[in-house]
Amino acid sequence: MIILRDVNKIYGKGDGAVHALKDVNLVIEDSKFTVIIGKSGSGKSTLMNIIGALDSPTSGTIESNGQKINDLSKNELAEYRNKTVGFVFQSFYLEPTFSVLENVCMPLTIKGMPKKEREEKAKKIIEELGLTEKLNKKASELSGGQKQRVSIARALVSDPDIVLADEPTGNLDSQNGAEVMELLVNIVKRGKSVILVTHNMDDAKNADNVIHISDGVVTADYMDKYKDMFNNKEVNNVEEKVDENIRVEDIKEEKE
Ligand SMILES: Nc1ncnc2c1ncn2[C@@H]1O[C@H](COP(=O)(O)OP(=O)(O)O)[C@@H](O)[C@H]1O
Ligand SMILES: [Mg+2]
Repeated sequence: MIILRDVNKIYGKGDGAVHALKDVNLVIEDSKFTVIIGKSGSGKSTLMNIIGALDSPTSGTIESNGQKINDLSKNELAEYRNKTVGFVFQSFYLEPTFSVLENVCMPLTIKGMPKKEREEKAKKIIEELGLTEKLNKKASELSGGQKQRVSIARALVSDPDIVLADEPTGNLDSQNGAEVMELLVNIVKRGKSVILVTHNMDDAKNADNVIHISDGVVTADYMDKYKDMFNNKEVNNVEEKVDENIRVEDIKEEKE
């Protein structure tokens, strides 16, 4: 479980400052398909990068399985990321001159895993994703759909608990996009958490939990059950809803 408390992210200073996340209180549940949906510029990537510890908040805390990840040193944070999180991006970020195998091996190579061991692990994932035929092809020779499969394989090779995907279908046609969505759903079935960032409402139909973000403000219905965890602080829309109920009750009583 990942818990964000009072998270704010402000880029820049003074007049040019952008308040990209505003008092975000949020729980990301384990082994669920969580979809973060919002318009371009609403703060989706900022939120995802903070959840994945790629970036740190200006204020507030992030807790992952009981561990405050704000308190970690730079090295500890990198270790946490390598162990816990796999990333998939819209523009793939593959090394074009490297083979499929080399690209998928990359996170393990960085970890210093011996060649034989890392290639064994990579080949297994590559096979699961139906890419064995392309094993020795350079990344630059692949289609968009194949490239995104390779980047998903790379995200999975270190067996992370969480896969974060930032608009992974953004550069794909609808057929390849649907295939990538199916792969993500299968990752959840294997017990991992998947967090998908999208501006496409259709993607939300696969979600267990949907988070809406607009101008850096987050709302999510499923958060209702966590309101006590945040000391009765405003959790998304919860307090607003409660207030409305109270007001209706008050009016009724006054009338009676
Ligand atoms: N590195 C940055 N420096 C300054 N402003 C940024 C930076 N990254 C994002 N922003 C701004 O923060 C807001 C949210 O951006 P982002 O999280 O990328 O939104 P989304 O992913 O929903 O399109 C936008 O106004 C964007 O211009
Ligand atoms: Mg974005």
